[in-house]
Amino acid sequence: MKFSEKIQQTRGYLLSRLDQYPSIGLVLGSGLGILAEEIENPIAIPYDEIPHFPVSTVAGHKGQLVIGDLKGKRVIAMQGRFHYYEGHSLEAVTYPIRVMKAIGVKQIIVTNAAGGINPNFKPGDLMIIQDHINLTSQNPLIGPNEEKFGGRFPDMSEAYSRKLADLTKEVAIKEKIKIVEGVYAGVLGPSYETPAEIKFLGIIGASAVGMSTVPEVIIAKHSGLEVLGISCISNMAAGISEHFLTHDEVMETTEKIKAQFLQLVKGILAAM
Ligand code: HPA
Repeated sequence: MKFSEKIQQTRGYLLSRLDQYPSIGLVLGSGLGILAEEIENPIAIPYDEIPHFPVSTVAGHKGQLVIGDLKGKRVIAMQGRFHYYEGHSLEAVTYPIRVMKAIGVKQIIVTNAAGGINPNFKPGDLMIIQDHINLTSQNPLIGPNEEKFGGRFPDMSEAYSRKLADLTKEVAIKEKIKIVEGVYAGVLGPSYETPAEIKFLGIIGASAVGMSTVPEVIIAKHSGLEVLGISCISNMAAGISEHFLTHDEVMETTEKIKAQFLQLVKGILAAM
């Protein structure tokens, strides 16, 4: 089946389940899926019920779409996302973004847990992603380009909307939430980086590192979506941190920061 036909089928299924269509998409990273629990009048649709949707496998990723109202906005949240390291194709990893676009979403907020490289950061900081560096040696757009989804060579000079980043800073000041800004380096994982790799990433201009987000943002830009990216600095990266890294630490920090994270994202939604 052609890709565009799959998208049409997924779209048709979702629209048949909804009475109002969302305009803002939320991609919730490791430990941040809790935000979806605050959605009012929710319709939750497990990924395995959605035609052509991939199914998520990582601990801490729930695996459903939640559609409803948050701060007066109609949103669609991915509670649990797909990673290339799970063995999914990049088409699968980014499929939900294509689907969001197909059902009328205009803006997305992409969140993740990331390791801090900027030595001034602390675990628990929230970082506005100003830009990213794609270090995956992969691109989800490789292959024939379907013009109806977007152009062959999408511009990436403002992958992350300055307008939404400015709005986020205003909200953070108003709500007295500490916020930092920086460049996200996207790697494949699933092993964490070596100290030498982290040193290299710092030299080339990365402030934080993580294993998601980059493919989704490339597809979002190709689709003409406006993107806001927020990283939760869950640990200091290898070599900067004094101890070995564990997924448990990532989950513990996101657990600690979640109240502020929720407050920030809800404040942003209210202001959008
Ligand atoms: N490295 C890569 N990905 C991550 C990290 C890290 O230190 N922390 C959370 N996701």
